[in-house]
Parts: sequence; C-alpha cells; structure tokens
Amino acid sequence: MKRKVTKAIFPVAGLGTRFLPATKSVPKEIMTLVDRPLIQYAIDEARSAGIKEFIFVTSRGKGALEDYFDHAPELEASLRRKGKQKLLDVLENTYMDSGAIAYIRQHKPMGLGHAVWCARRLIGDEPFAVILPDDVISAEKPCLQQMVEAHQEIGGCMVAAMDVKPEQTSSYGVLDIAEEKPDGLFEVRGMVEKPNIEDAPSNSAVIGRYILTPDVMNNLHSVRCGSGGEIQLTDAIALEVKQNRPVHGLRFKGRRFDCGSKAGFLQATVSFALEREELHDEFSNFLRELMPLAQAAE
Ligand code: UTP
Repeated sequence: MKRKVTKAIFPVAGLGTRFLPATKSVPKEIMTLVDRPLIQYAIDEARSAGIKEFIFVTSRGKGALEDYFDHAPELEASLRRKGKQKLLDVLENTYMDSGAIAYIRQHKPMGLGHAVWCARRLIGDEPFAVILPDDVISAEKPCLQQMVEAHQEIGGCMVAAMDVKPEQTSSYGVLDIAEEKPDGLFEVRGMVEKPNIEDAPSNSAVIGRYILTPDVMNNLHSVRCGSGGEIQLTDAIALEVKQNRPVHGLRFKGRRFDCGSKAGFLQATVSFALEREELHDEFSNFLRELMPLAQAAE
C-alpha cells in the first residue's frame, strides 16, 4: 500500500493578467461560475479525494481569498434568524477546520514550479497533490479522486492528461508517452513545456492536477529558469523521468474548462448554469433565442 495523499498545494500567486482589469483588485480564484468561486470547486474536489491539509501559495492582493474561508458570524446569525437553512449549509461548506488551511507567500511570480517550491517546508517527506484552480473539471468522479485511486496502486508521480489540438501544444506541458492501458493510465517517457507544434512529442497535454513525490521538491531546488524565464514544474517532473523514477499520466474521465482564459471561463459558466436545475429552463430558452443572432452575425 502506498502512502496516502493528504496534502494539497493550491498555487494562486499568479497575476491573472488575462482577466484585467477585474484581477486588478479581485483574485482570479474568487471569480464565480454561477455562484461559486473557482476556488470552491477546487476545494470540493480536493476534499472528495481525501485531502486534509490545504496549502495556498498566495501573493500580494489575494486577501479576499483568505477572507473567503473565514467564518462569517454576522451573516450566519442573520440567516439563522430568518430560518434560511439551505443558505446556512452553503455557507458552512466554505468553512475549513481550524489548522487545516495554510497560506504561504510567493514574493515574486517566478512561475508555477517556484510557487510549489515555496510550500516545501509544509510538505516535508510526503507525496502531495497540486491543484490549479483555473482548471475546473466537471466529472462524475472528481478528477483528483480518480488520480488518488490510481496512485494508491502505482505510486510515483502522476499528472492528469488530455488531448489538445496540435496547434495548442505551445500552451501546455506536453507528454512523450508509452503505451496506454484501457483504464487511461500510461507511463511518461518525457515532458516538454510549451513546445512548438513541430517539437511536440504528442498532443497529450498536462492539465492542472498533479500528484508528486518529495523528490520533485528537491528537483525544484536545482532546475533553472525554463520556458518564459519562469521555474517550471514540468522541468522538475521531467527530471524524475530522466532519473528513471516512475511518472504516469492519467487520461481522466471528465470535461476540463480552462477558466484561466476568457473563452474557457465563459464555456464553464454556460455549462455549469445548464446543469443547475433552478436555472436550466430559463437559461436554455435564452440560449435558444441567442443562437440565431450569433449565426446571423457570422
Ligand atoms: P497562469 O499561467 O495561468 O498564470 O498560472 P496567471 O498569472 O495565473 O494568469 P495570466 O496568464 O497572467 O492570465 C497557472 C497557475 O499557476 C499559478 C497561478 O496562480 C495559476 O493558478 N502561478 C503562476 C503561481 O502561483 N505563481 C506564479 O509565479 C505563476
């Protein structure tokens, strides 16, 4: 039996420039899909995968994120007086057990790899998950849970993978893969960060869910600035492959939305709104009305 994964790092120190001017004062992770901030989707996914310790790597201007997980006694008292139990339950889901959440600052946005490295002392000698809240995944069984279950069997490092169009490889970490098993698991033979279409070893891209070993933290000490002048997590995982330590990809079951981009965020909003019973009819009628207008504009 492999060691259980109970810690997760949430790197949320990026500048979120693609959502300016909103992200000038609102952390990207607080932006809402329907009525829940991106970070709530990430926390719910982590909880259902058995995560008990939540480590946020934050930066200046992310105070709203810390407040989000705090208790709200006035609001709670008001809802209780009015007998609004459902809303009280919603509020309760945002609370974290005392001591379960930690915040570390990344003082400069030096890349995802550097953000993860900032949490090294809280991770110690354990395997850990990394969740990028901008990747929101709609799935019957939450993506991280799928990974944790596979990891229990196989150990080592694991990344969530999906196919992208060849012209999109330059936006992702791309995998060189060995034969894939029917359950979607495959051995990784190499990884390249943001390759051009002609240099990409495949069109299987890594998305924002990882299970990593403490060795990756050690690798992050030694990797130098990579693609884009940032310290890349991909480079530290690729070092594991080079040192013949096991790295696997899991082609998860579910649909991923890139909520770090405007188009992805809008697609997620529409999709999650349609899944909500109380919104479905009104919203789908509205979309039907809108379609001819969109077609006419083409
Ligand atoms: P992105 O590449 O989406 O960058 O980071 P960003 O700054 O958030 O957004 P844009 O591109 O300027 O619009 C992917 C994830 O890595 C985190 C981000 O917070 C996001 O969750 N990150 C990135 C850090 O924590 N620190 C960094 O230095 C860079």
